[in-house]
Amino acid sequence: MSPLPKTMRAMVLTGHGGLDKLVYREDWPVPEPAPGWAVIAVGACGMNNTDINTRIGWYAPSVTEGTTAEGGKSGIAVLEEDSGTWGGRGIDLPRIQGADVCGRVVALGDGVCEDLLGKRVLIDAWLRDWTDPLNKDKCRYFGSEVDGGFAEYTAAPVENLHPIESDLSDAELATFATSSVTAENMLARASVGAGDRVLIPGASGGVGTALVQLTRRRGATAIALCGADKAAAVAALGATVLPRSPEDLAAALKSATGSDRVDVVADAVGGPLFPQLLQVLVRGGRYTCAGAIAGPIVSLDLRDFYLKDLTFTGATIVPPGLFAELAGYIAAKAIRPLLAQTFALKDLHKAQEVFLAKRHVGNLVIDMSLG
Ligand SMILES: NC(=O)c1ccc[n+]([C@@H]2O[C@H](COP(=O)([O-])OP(=O)(O)OC[C@H]3O[C@@H](n4cnc5c(N)ncnc54)[C@H](OP(=O)(O)O)[C@@H]3O)[C@@H](O)[C@H]2O)c1
Repeated sequence: MSPLPKTMRAMVLTGHGGLDKLVYREDWPVPEPAPGWAVIAVGACGMNNTDINTRIGWYAPSVTEGTTAEGGKSGIAVLEEDSGTWGGRGIDLPRIQGADVCGRVVALGDGVCEDLLGKRVLIDAWLRDWTDPLNKDKCRYFGSEVDGGFAEYTAAPVENLHPIESDLSDAELATFATSSVTAENMLARASVGAGDRVLIPGASGGVGTALVQLTRRRGATAIALCGADKAAAVAALGATVLPRSPEDLAAALKSATGSDRVDVVADAVGGPLFPQLLQVLVRGGRYTCAGAIAGPIVSLDLRDFYLKDLTFTGATIVPPGLFAELAGYIAAKAIRPLLAQTFALKDLHKAQEVFLAKRHVGNLVIDMSLG
């Protein structure tokens, strides 16, 4: 294998704020492989809301609105000292973001098995302390607490590399990691099984389309909420589709499915619909949540919660082993990619504007072969 260049193209986050905080560089140092780590030539890197949420400081407790197109573009007003990452800690800058990498291993640090060299891999974005792998306080996210994949090269611990054999393109493979792992974790946290009726707000998004597919993989019924222009694409995944924000959710459910109740709500949207999401849950139902794109501050009637014996589960850090299971589903084509559009690395600003407009179904990806 030829020696690595000294510099590379990279999109570098230089501070909290608007899109101007992302700076395109062609002279950024190529990472060196630390002991136990490998360097990966990035083929493609998927985009996620967390890249934007971190950039604009959305995780700050003082922020009460959802992730909006305007806020995502221009930044939002947060106290600088309050800004941080998903985990509540500040971010070290400059930082290369991008969690969902498909690429090829091109260099190995000390102690890494030579067999990995040249392998096509997906990167599990949850970096753990492998001496204490169940300790969630020690977890870091790729592209957040360490540099990620919006660059020609990146580096990751070998435990996070999953060789994959697939006829899918790098861009297609880069659609899966964050959204599908999150979706599978949500369904596991809510113990979704055959026969369950699962309601999925935001079903056209990255997490939502994965939820629909993975719900059906478990033999459960997927009932989707999404924009009218995306209904056909979501229905094609096998979901019964309801309008995005029905005035009367119970009535809409009844008319589309014959019942006004569901067993599980798998929610990454939150916002104003939240009270109705609890109302349509059966007694003993399960609400699992991994996001709040429509707004993190919701109105909770505690009587809906305790009188109906509901179970609430948050879903962010996934158990070790879940990514390997997901890689198996991808290789076996049990789930399929929903690649809406690809962009060149230098066009990440434009790509984030398209991402924030939410007119797409599935995932957007930075494809390094586009320059
Ligand atoms: N906890 C975790 O580890 C984790 C992991 C991944 C994502 N997340 C979070 O989960 C949320 C969804 O992620 P995603 O990747 O699925 O996002 P996405 O691809 O951007 O999709 C979100 C979808 O939600 C729907 N939506 C409904 N109300 C909305 C509103 N007010 N504003 C914007 N969209 C709205 C939109 O579809 P329609 O137009 O069809 O309604 C949109 O396509 C985000 O907040 C993200 O940060 C968390």
